[in-house]
Amino acid sequence: MTISFADKYGPWALVTGASKGLGTEFAHQCAKRGLNTILVARSGELLDEQAGQIKEKYKVEVQTIALDLSRPDILDVITPVTDSLEVGLLINNAGISRVRPFLEHSLKQLLTQLNLNTRAAMILAYHFGHKMAKTRRGGIIFLSSGSAKNGTPFVANYAGTKAYNLILGESLWYELGNKGVDVLGFMPGSTKTPGWDLNKPKASSMVKVMGVQETVTEALDALGKHPSWLAGRSNRIAFFIMDKLMTRSQSIRTVGKLMKSLFGPFQ
Ligand SMILES: NC(=O)c1ccc[n+]([C@@H]2O[C@H](COP(=O)([O-])OP(=O)(O)OC[C@H]3O[C@@H](n4cnc5c(N)ncnc54)[C@H](OP(=O)(O)O)[C@@H]3O)[C@@H](O)[C@H]2O)c1
Repeated sequence: MTISFADKYGPWALVTGASKGLGTEFAHQCAKRGLNTILVARSGELLDEQAGQIKEKYKVEVQTIALDLSRPDILDVITPVTDSLEVGLLINNAGISRVRPFLEHSLKQLLTQLNLNTRAAMILAYHFGHKMAKTRRGGIIFLSSGSAKNGTPFVANYAGTKAYNLILGESLWYELGNKGVDVLGFMPGSTKTPGWDLNKPKASSMVKVMGVQETVTEALDALGKHPSWLAGRSNRIAFFIMDKLMTRSQSIRTVGKLMKSLFGPFQ
């Protein structure tokens, strides 16, 4: 007997950063696979717009939570909505990245990035992980990035947060996997989103950019099959070559030079 995606991860999916980019696509594809969705992000109006489209297109239920996930008290806002619902899939997607030398950020910006990209994702995985472990079913996806693979100059703090997501996801793949919960650390390749456009490299034709649809399909298909997954065949080949043929310092220098040429000039 084949178990459907909705049987495994329904009836509700909670998607953070669902107002645009990959998060919106995650919400649509979850709804298409039969899940009701809870959309979380700061922009309430965009969430309501997406909620309307998802309800109409896929005939599922949708809830929205307008919330800044870098705040310390996120569960106080989320649990009044989710306590009466069974969340079978958590997609920790919300994240911010800015390409800039580490010392040129304000400390406040770096702390907000740390709180959103890592702290919020961990809190939600802890909260919903308990509930999923109790029912011995469910799934959690952490959005990581290729920058998590080794040091990535000029997105240093971002890369650090994404390494956290990757390693937390892979570790929980084992721990929670023994309790019936699938966990995935997912690394999108460069994907055309508003976030990508904000950092767009000068020579964008040098970078292979994926569409949100193919990236998100790879993530949902990889859940339950792998501890972590890097989207895009050419990305997997490039990282395989770096891993196998270069020393750590060679990889970091190569990435640093590439970042400088794509996004610089930097000191
Ligand atoms: N696109 C890529 O090439 C790429 C590559 C590797 C990894 N990723 C990862 O994939 C994820 C999604 O990326 P994306 O490109 O889709 O990003 P995006 O287009 O910038 O969208 C980010 C989402 O996060 C939400 N968000 C931002 N700050 C928030 C906050 N403080 N509280 C709550 N929500 C917040 C935004 O909504 P509001 O502004 O309404 O809050 C938006 O819905 C991120 O974790 C990113 O690191 C992306």
